[in-house]
Amino acid sequence: MEQQRKKMTVPEIQAKAARGENLLMLTSYDYPLALLADRAGMDILLVGDSVGMTTLGYETTLPVTMDEMIHHAKAVRRGVQYALCIGDMPFMSYQTSIAEAVYNAGRFLKEAAMEAVKLEGGVEMAETVRALFNTGIPVMGHIGLTPQSINRLGGFKTQGRDAATAKQLLDDAAALEQAGAFAILLEAIPDRVAQLICERAGVPIIGIGAGPHCHGQLLIVHDLLGLFEKFTPRFAKRYANLSEVIGKAFADYKQEVEAGAFPGPEHCWTIKDDELAKLKAML
Ligand code: KIV
Repeated sequence: MEQQRKKMTVPEIQAKAARGENLLMLTSYDYPLALLADRAGMDILLVGDSVGMTTLGYETTLPVTMDEMIHHAKAVRRGVQYALCIGDMPFMSYQTSIAEAVYNAGRFLKEAAMEAVKLEGGVEMAETVRALFNTGIPVMGHIGLTPQSINRLGGFKTQGRDAATAKQLLDDAAALEQAGAFAILLEAIPDRVAQLICERAGVPIIGIGAGPHCHGQLLIVHDLLGLFEKFTPRFAKRYANLSEVIGKAFADYKQEVEAGAFPGPEHCWTIKDDELAKLKAML
């Protein structure tokens, strides 16, 4: 008998990881892809600030604003029935003060019906995560390569490749969990460091470029679909080449319009002969 699909909630996400089942997470920025991702069985949809690079054409995620995030989060939410929806806190929406962080995280829940938020940072963000937890807002932590810090990191670089920086990642994960984070995202760190974090964690650990030991995986939807051509990180697996498919569709459309082959009779409405005759008589 087919099992009834459950709406994913924070406790359901934690229970699934505790059962040893891999969590499926994907970014999402608009209604049509959210609808398809939800239908395909994703557990979590992240309205990532990567929207700035994949969809809005910015060079980095830094310019993305809360208003832009809310706009995309609302569209995603309208397409989702089952997945847990997470809004990604953009740069400077939570770093300036805890009050600002609570206000902006609250906007995601009130205005876009997101069910949790994600923010970047470890030990230094623990107090903020605690404040959000106390307000009833579930938080996913995000450590490792944190794109909002590219100016400090010197680019989109793998993190935690030596013992000292890897130890810092373990401390960051522990601090986020203690502060109440319901899950932690690891981006671009060595798989064996991720394994050590997973072995010590009491909350689900999701990886994007963190190897197979995590409790779940995240991909950027445009990387998965082959829709983002500027660069592809090593961890991104392309499951389709939509750029090629779309490019061909546009070229076919151009060729048919230029040749007068589109629209054909099947794309047109007609008027009865007698009505057309009457119309012409009026002219
Ligand atoms: O914005 C985003 O999609 C993210 C992922 C890169 C982890 O934060």
